[in-house]
Amino acid sequence: MLGAFVFNQTWFTILLVLHVSGAIMGLGPSFAFSIIGPAIGKQESPAASLALMKIMEKIEKALVLPILIFVQLSTGVLLIYNRHLDAGFFHSNRAWLLAGIGIYVVAMALSRGVNVPAMGKLIHMAEAGQANTTEFGKLVKLTQRMGPILTVLALGIMVLMIWKPGGQCGPLIRC
Ligand code: HEM
Repeated sequence: MLGAFVFNQTWFTILLVLHVSGAIMGLGPSFAFSIIGPAIGKQESPAASLALMKIMEKIEKALVLPILIFVQLSTGVLLIYNRHLDAGFFHSNRAWLLAGIGIYVVAMALSRGVNVPAMGKLIHMAEAGQANTTEFGKLVKLTQRMGPILTVLALGIMVLMIWKPGGQCGPLIRC
């Protein structure tokens, strides 16, 4: 059963289509946060700022995280078995994959553990009229720091997974 799946080209094509589509649909919207985020502080009415914060949180929770957690992880694991990359998984020519997965875990932990809770708290405080407190200011700074960090991590994953440095495979040669 597993033998028929390994190096099966039809499965590889299906998984790759899902995996790359997941990268586009999951990561793509998060790049717009660098435009929406700074616009929050420039709104004249608090209601407009709140609406922008809510839409950012919704995109993160309903689109970005579900796709990156469920689609990328499941198709990624299946791709590993399909390409038989599980053999010699810790060999140096799999370093691109290990590093990519490592960065992915860090990015998901920062997003789920720090960024999303901070966004939720900001929305809660704004709704309670606490937008002028020092705690609110600190949370804004935290989310502003997290944005570029998550963007760099996302780009790191993309570069590693497409280029596959040291992997003896890459964009033109399949693993
Ligand atoms: C944010 C998360 C992720 C993004 C954006 C992403 C993106 C990509 C992209 C764009 C490719 C290139 C496909 C190609 O060369 O045509 C790729 C390949 C690959 N990814 Fe990911 N990936 C992510 C997470 C994961 C995870 C968590 C795993 C494993 C658990 C994984 C395993 C793989 C494997 C094995 C390949 C190589 C497929 C091949 O042989 O070409 N990916 N990924």
